[in-house]
Amino acid sequence: MAVDRIEVVVSEVVQEAEGIRAFAFQRVDKSSLPEFTAGSHIDVFIPGGIVRQYSLSGSPSECDRYTIGVLREENGRGGSKALYDQVRPGDRLFISEPRNHFELTRSAKRYLLLAGGIGITPMMSMLEYLAPEGLPYELHFCTRSKAVTPFRKRLSEIKGNGQVHHHFDNGNPENGLKIGELLREYDDGTHLYFCGPPGFMGAVKVASSHWNQETVHFEHFSAPALDAANDQGLECFYVRIASTGATYEVPADRSIAQVLQENGVETNTSCSQGICGTCQTRYLNGEPQHMDLILTPSEQAEYLMICCSRSKTKELILDL
Ligand code: FES
Repeated sequence: MAVDRIEVVVSEVVQEAEGIRAFAFQRVDKSSLPEFTAGSHIDVFIPGGIVRQYSLSGSPSECDRYTIGVLREENGRGGSKALYDQVRPGDRLFISEPRNHFELTRSAKRYLLLAGGIGITPMMSMLEYLAPEGLPYELHFCTRSKAVTPFRKRLSEIKGNGQVHHHFDNGNPENGLKIGELLREYDDGTHLYFCGPPGFMGAVKVASSHWNQETVHFEHFSAPALDAANDQGLECFYVRIASTGATYEVPADRSIAQVLQENGVETNTSCSQGICGTCQTRYLNGEPQHMDLILTPSEQAEYLMICCSRSKTKELILDL
């Protein structure tokens, strides 16, 4: 099953902050793009054969265009740098349809949003949804300084039933938001959403560990370093395709997805880091060593991400 690609034209590029640009995409014929929900992301097929995921930062009620925010990462994997440096208004690109693994629950009495740096992008679409609906929200946006803070103008315009708090730490987290204090008290009616760089994610996870985890939601935009101590996967194991019975060996240096692709089994991958959901696959037997960062425990009982997960059992049977 191939991912449907949509050809778009870059209709606008805005310098949102130092090292951060917002890109707007429209269909070439200006017709409507697929509807999306707050927190969704798309794949962007970047010149040079790179595919990267970006959260949509515009209003879910406006599908005439999609907007993403891109941080130019000097020492990243190269995708955002290429997009930031090379893509200009009028250029054509391909994107995927939106997917959402960071969906807003409808049942919250209050939405507490915490963003670190470029982690603000999914929160922007959330605010664009919550504010017009009159739903109570509170956003805490942590950055180093005003100069590197994107979407400041739009954030000052969004009203509704909530507040936006900026926290500038000038490079010293001790001067920033006191995350532990903010999250010390909680109630089950409040749902927490957070997204940001690895240090920020770790701090919020620790500070919210006593919350009801059903009310805690997060999205990584890059995979943190793996904790080798938690890796109980076998070095080498087998995957069996339920529909054909074909069995393939997965060695230590290949992912399940790579092995399947090398053997002509059609699979989709995108981030290859367990953060986008493209390669989600149902399994019927065996026990995976889950390495993804998006599936809930109940989802992991049924699915695994074949780009990164491995196996604790000698064989995994995949529902393919
Ligand atoms: S390809 Fe993104 S989660 Fe597997």
